[in-house]
Amino acid sequence: MISFFHSVREDVAAVFESDPAARSYAEVLLCYPGLHAVWGHHLSHWLWRHGMRFLARFVSQIARLLTGIEIHPGAEIGRRLFIDHGMGTVIGETAIVGDDVTLYQGVTLGGTGKEKGKRHPTLGNNISVGSGAKLLGNITIGDNCRVGAGSVVLRSVPANSTIVGVPGHIVLRDGKRVVITDPKDIRDPLSDVIIKLAKEMHELREKFQEHSHEALGAEPNLTIDDGTSPPNISPQDLFQDDYQDYQI
Ligand SMILES: CC(C)(COP(=O)(O)OP(=O)(O)OC[C@H]1O[C@@H](n2cnc3c(N)ncnc32)[C@H](O)[C@@H]1OP(=O)(O)O)[C@@H](O)C(=O)NCCC(=O)NCCS
Repeated sequence: MISFFHSVREDVAAVFESDPAARSYAEVLLCYPGLHAVWGHHLSHWLWRHGMRFLARFVSQIARLLTGIEIHPGAEIGRRLFIDHGMGTVIGETAIVGDDVTLYQGVTLGGTGKEKGKRHPTLGNNISVGSGAKLLGNITIGDNCRVGAGSVVLRSVPANSTIVGVPGHIVLRDGKRVVITDPKDIRDPLSDVIIKLAKEMHELREKFQEHSHEALGAEPNLTIDDGTSPPNISPQDLFQDDYQDYQI
């Protein structure tokens, strides 16, 4: 186990690496509440593991009062966690955070309220979670992932992915763009409506094709007219009776 002072040195170095705004050693030591919260957690977690549960909670609440960051003493935090700005960040009791993770302000590693036991996320190594992102439930975020600001992530995410949106969906994996071709991939109520509309559109199109085939004995061209070529079928051909009614 590395000593507290060694971990402080590592944490400060990690701030210089991640934050271009960091200027001096004194500034980082005194003006980064994210670091103070992590150091408070080292103490509260030690108390928690040694059975002093009430004292552990009390220390974590003092740290929250001073920093605006709430880390439950039961949470397991890896090395060089950098909580940038920090205010409003919450890390739940059964959360596990790997090494070299950056969390921006307002991030929640929380439960869904429906699970018991292990009910908070597990984050791998080298992950960055954007401001306001909510990661909920016993899910796993793989190594080297990036979670977009404001995302709500409810499902596990494979390594090397970028997730954005509500609910979170993968937009980049292994450096390549992931194009969503099926609305089911997004899994939100709006995509259910789109799926239903697409199905109805497909059925209507099939019916229309059947009827036109019966009426004309030929398949109409239903491709979208981009203005570059004349349509194959005139309105007169399609709706002969109606057309005659409107002739002057
Ligand atoms: C998610 C993130 C890391 C992606 O960055 P990136 O790899 O440069 O990716 P891009 O900006 O090319 O975005 C890829 C796609 O995701 C979309 N996207 C990016 N971030 C998004 C977000 N937070 N919410 C919704 N969509 C987002 C982009 O619009 C783009 O879609 P498009 O190609 O259809 O236009 C970045 O956008 C982000 O949110 N970083 C968090 C930073 C933060 O919290 N800063 C706070 C400092 S205090």
